[in-house]
Amino acid sequence: MIQWRNGAVITPDQTKLPLQEVTLEIKTVEQMAEAIKTLRVRGAPLLGAAAGFGVALAAYHSKAKTKEKLMAELETAGTIIKRQRPTAVNLFWGVDRVLKKARNSSESVEELKAAVIEEAQKIADEDAQQNRAIGKNGSVLIKDGDTILTHCNAGELATVEYGTALGIIRAAWEEGKKIKVIADETRPLLQGARLTAYELKRDGIPVTLITDNMAGYVMSKGLVNKVIVGADRVVQDAVFNKIGTYSVAVLAHEHNIPFYVAAPKSTFDLTRKAAEVEIEERNPQEVTHVGCQQTAPEGVKVMNPAFDATPLKYVSAIICESRIYYSRDFGAFRKGKV
Ligand code: MRU
Repeated sequence: MIQWRNGAVITPDQTKLPLQEVTLEIKTVEQMAEAIKTLRVRGAPLLGAAAGFGVALAAYHSKAKTKEKLMAELETAGTIIKRQRPTAVNLFWGVDRVLKKARNSSESVEELKAAVIEEAQKIADEDAQQNRAIGKNGSVLIKDGDTILTHCNAGELATVEYGTALGIIRAAWEEGKKIKVIADETRPLLQGARLTAYELKRDGIPVTLITDNMAGYVMSKGLVNKVIVGADRVVQDAVFNKIGTYSVAVLAHEHNIPFYVAAPKSTFDLTRKAAEVEIEERNPQEVTHVGCQQTAPEGVKVMNPAFDATPLKYVSAIICESRIYYSRDFGAFRKGKV
């Protein structure tokens, strides 16, 4: 959920949800960088759009008189944005796409600024369309009566509109299928509890919240028959998504439950293998505290990786805007192409 309005980026502050609905008005690259770092703006496809708009902010507010000076400012803005989070490839893709447009633009300073803003808007518009297409493609996999488990938030908050994993759930619901969702709370930052439960409840889609360590229990009791998650990066041999996704995938495999990934092509990075991707390590305080309340002994050693890699052998299908890739298609991923 993001909009460009007269030189500002308008988007919800996702750290405040579900208790407060606060709208951010981001006017500078530094504000955008802070919003990305702190997860006010989060979710891979939304990060792609935010990255494009971040560079567009630099263009819009630039006082540069020459194209060279403007280009240098845009490159700096891109570097600042890319520095904020390493794992979701959309952040890099969004910056690079807008900078490429700028580099290839041979117009005046004003025209170059307009081209950058237009390209950023195009990224956002395309994401909205792609999510509808993912929803439509993926809803064929959903049957009346299904109960679908999801992890983290791959909903409209994580995208420009509609969502990827939740886009499929939305599309199935809009087609009249009577489905239910089980949302993992997603420790440590609770995107499942705070954002997925909020979105689905608001839209009247039946949702039951569980803690992450209940996923095995609900599967063993036959209470779930499909899993759908989003992705932060799809590589040759794995899917990166929020920490805990790998455990859910292994559990789904053990219980013969299909494990689906929904992601636009902007999340594909088939030039790399999982071992080459940096996993973001976040502040230990996210683990030692729940909100402001300390829950662990002072000074305890902490690990806080924000993502994990699920090997493709656990993935039943990847649903993107153009088609569904089944496990039989994953051989092409290993060759770096689709
Ligand atoms: O750290 P976050 O909240 O940005 O992580 C987000 C996720 O892991 C989502 O599942 C992923 O980006 C897919 S969003 C459509």
